Amino acid sequence: SQVQDMSSEKVEAAKNMAFAFDIDGVLAHGPEPIEEAKEALKILNGDNELGIKIPYILLTNGGGKTEVARCAQLSEMLEAPISTDQFIQSHTPMQALSEYYETVLVCGGEGYKVREVAETYGFQNVVHPKDILAWDPTISPWRSFSEADRVDAKPRDFSKMKFDAILVFADSYDYATDFQIIMDLLISEDGKLLTKAEDPLASRIPIYFSQGDLVFPTNHKGLPRLTQGAFRIAIEAQYKALTGCELERVVYGKPERATYTYADEVLKHWMEEIHNENRLPKNVYMVGDNPQSDIIGGNMYGWNTCLVRTGVFKGKEGENDANNPANFGVFNNVLDAVKAAIRKEL
Ligand code: G3P
Ligand code: MG
Repeated sequence: SQVQDMSSEKVEAAKNMAFAFDIDGVLAHGPEPIEEAKEALKILNGDNELGIKIPYILLTNGGGKTEVARCAQLSEMLEAPISTDQFIQSHTPMQALSEYYETVLVCGGEGYKVREVAETYGFQNVVHPKDILAWDPTISPWRSFSEADRVDAKPRDFSKMKFDAILVFADSYDYATDFQIIMDLLISEDGKLLTKAEDPLASRIPIYFSQGDLVFPTNHKGLPRLTQGAFRIAIEAQYKALTGCELERVVYGKPERATYTYADEVLKHWMEEIHNENRLPKNVYMVGDNPQSDIIGGNMYGWNTCLVRTGVFKGKEGENDANNPANFGVFNNVLDAVKAAIRKEL
């Protein structure tokens, strides 16, 4: 009958749309959920007129703990089950690097958490700056290294070790120490501490950053706070000033194209998991709060982009971002964006 035709058309349309959600400033502010996000995820998890799951993934530039740990925390906070199979954080695609590098300096956050991340990714010999501080605290003259810091440090004889690469996984909790050790390694002979290369370019070890955002929204009342992109710019400037050379580096995360192609793969597998169909939904909606990362990246990749007002972007009613306008529109929050996209597609 006509009614049946219409509803099977709608089911097809529901399977042909998908969402990619940013987390900070869209679903949450740090550890606090954005209330409308709970309702939005409920709708997508089947609480809709069709009783069907509409696929979504989480695509965040955040990081610093394992995918398993972060998804468990998000599931509780958002009152919706979030699977690691629908989740990409900034450093998730960096696991592929474990095939190429054995000994890596992994920076960011608290030592034990990023160490665990790198080890689950398969890196054989993971070193956190704290391990190096515990071996020789004089490496960082302004840092007072306490007994409490020593608890999760793994000092070894670093004068003998050759580092293969530097991986910045998350925000530094100790800029001064991380700057110093990263500079030491970039200028060293072949990635060995306490050495200096004759020709800095000939033997420089590679450096990778998990994302490039300059600022991110927090519960602070003033402007958004500085994040990994600001840290990277400082590293680049120091390296240039010390050697006269530009620092070649690789940046992951939004808005880098590689992150979106990785997201497509995740989305395809997720479709298979929830609808038994290994294909990409045609109409992907990115919901983000940062025009300079979520929106510009989504626009360039051919996704529909929704900008929300709950994070970095603070434009007034009727305003879009001047430089990177969202192509589907600006919304007060994630729930409004989800409802508008569903109205358009179904
Ligand atoms: O450090 C930036 C990061 O927290 C942003 O996360 O979810 O807004 O991409 P997200
Ligand atoms: Mg965000």
